Amino acid sequence: MSNQVKTRVLLGITGGIAAYKSAELCRQLVKSGAEVQVVMTAGALEFITPLTMQAVSGNPVHHTLLDPAAEAGMGHIELARWADQILIAPATADFIARLNAGMANDLLTTLCLASDAPMTLAPAMNQQMWRNEITQNNIKSLHNLLGNRLRLIGPASGEQACGDVGPGRMTEPQDIATAFMSSPSASASGASSTIEQSDTNSSLAGLSVVLTAGPTRESIDPVRYISNHSSGKMGVALAEAASRCGAHVTLICGPVSIPMPEGVKIVSVTSAQDMLDAAVEQVSEADIFIAAAAVADYRPATQAEEKIKKSGDEISLTLVKNPDIIATIANHAERPFCVGFAAETRDLERYALGKLERKNLDMVIANDVSRSDIGFNSADNAVTVFSRHSDGAQQQAFDAMPKRQLADLLIEKIRQYYHQSRGE
Ligand code: PMT
Repeated sequence: MSNQVKTRVLLGITGGIAAYKSAELCRQLVKSGAEVQVVMTAGALEFITPLTMQAVSGNPVHHTLLDPAAEAGMGHIELARWADQILIAPATADFIARLNAGMANDLLTTLCLASDAPMTLAPAMNQQMWRNEITQNNIKSLHNLLGNRLRLIGPASGEQACGDVGPGRMTEPQDIATAFMSSPSASASGASSTIEQSDTNSSLAGLSVVLTAGPTRESIDPVRYISNHSSGKMGVALAEAASRCGAHVTLICGPVSIPMPEGVKIVSVTSAQDMLDAAVEQVSEADIFIAAAAVADYRPATQAEEKIKKSGDEISLTLVKNPDIIATIANHAERPFCVGFAAETRDLERYALGKLERKNLDMVIANDVSRSDIGFNSADNAVTVFSRHSDGAQQQAFDAMPKRQLADLLIEKIRQYYHQSRGE
C-alpha cells in the first residue's frame, strides 16, 4: 500500500436488507486505499451490527445524533467536514425522500446536509418502490438540486429478497467499490492509483484498449451523406472509464460534436471504411476492442464528384454493404478480447445473442434504441450484457442511468470477463 493521501469516505448505511452487503463494500473500500467512517441509521442497526462495521472499517461507528459521548469524540459537524466523499449504500426509498426534503432528523441526514462533499447513492428497495413516481421524482429533484455533486450507482435488476423481480437490487459491493473509487473525485486523492498498485487484476493498468464511437458518414456527393443519430456519448464515456482504470486508450471516433476526453489517443474518422482502416491499424497491440460506434451498414455505391442537381420527382440511390469492423477484428487469428454493442428496436436478447455468435464476440452490450430516453443521443442508457462462457452465455441487466456512470460498471464487467477469459 502506498503512502498517498487516502480518500476519506463517509459510508452511510440505511435500513434495508442489502445492509448486510455493506460490510463487504466497506472491506473493498478499505482495500482500495480509502479511510472509511461508517454512519448507520436506526433502521440499518436492525440489519447489521455496528461491531461488524467497526471491525471492517477499523473506526468506531456513528449512529446517534444527540449522543454527548460521541460528540465529545468526533462531533457531527466535524465528521461532515472530514468527508471527501459520501457514499450511501444501501440508500432506501425513505432515506432518499428525507434527503430530498432536506430533513435533518437523524445523524446521517444531518451530515449530508452539513457537508458539500460529492455524494453517491446506491439505491436498494422493492422494484415497485423504485418505479414509484414519488421515488423517481425524488431522484430527479436531487439531481436538479445537487447537479454534478450527486451520483447514482445502480440499482441493478433481478430477483429481490421479497420474491419480486425487477429493478431495485443494490449493485454488488465489488461493482460499487470499483465504480466509486474510479470516479474522478475519488481518484483525485490518489485512491485509484492505490488500486492499481495493490492489485493489477482490479484495474486495466498496462492494458491497451481500443474503442470505436459515434456515427459514420457515408458520402453521397460533396455536400450530402447518410448517417445516424449517434452522439458518441456512450463510446466517449467508456473511453474515459477505461482510462480512469489505468488503460492506454485509443478512441476511433466518427464525426461528433461532444468534447474528446483528456489522456486518450483520438483518431478521427468519417466513413465506415476509414473506421475499419483505423481499427485494423490501432488494434494490433490491443488487449481489448470495444465497438460502440453506430457504423452505417450500407454506403452509396458511388460518390458523385459534383453536387447532384435536382431533377424529377424521384431519385434512386444504390447502396452497397460496408465492411463489418468488429467482425473483421474478431475473426483475426491474433485477436483482442472483443466487445460489441447491439442496437435493437425489438427482440433484444435474440438479436444480441445472434451477434455474439455471428460476429465471434466475447461480449455484447445490447441497448433498446426504440426508446427516446436511452440509446442514441441521450444522456442515459440501459443495457443488457451478454457474455460467452464455457458453459453457455450469461446475461446481466443494467437499468437506465447516466452513460458516464454506466460506463464505469461496464468497464468493470469487461475487466472481469477479460481476466476470466484468460484464466486469471
Ligand atoms: O453514441 P450515443 O448517442 O451515445 O449512442 C450510443 C449507441 C446507441 C450508438 C451505442 O450504445 C450502440 O448501441 N452502438 C452500436 C450501434 C450499432 O451500430 O449497433 P449494431 O447492432 O448495428 O451493430 C452491432 C455491432 O457491430 C456494434 O458493436 C457496431 O459497432 C458493430 N458494427 C456494425 C456494423 C459495421 N459495419 N461494423 C461494425 O463494427
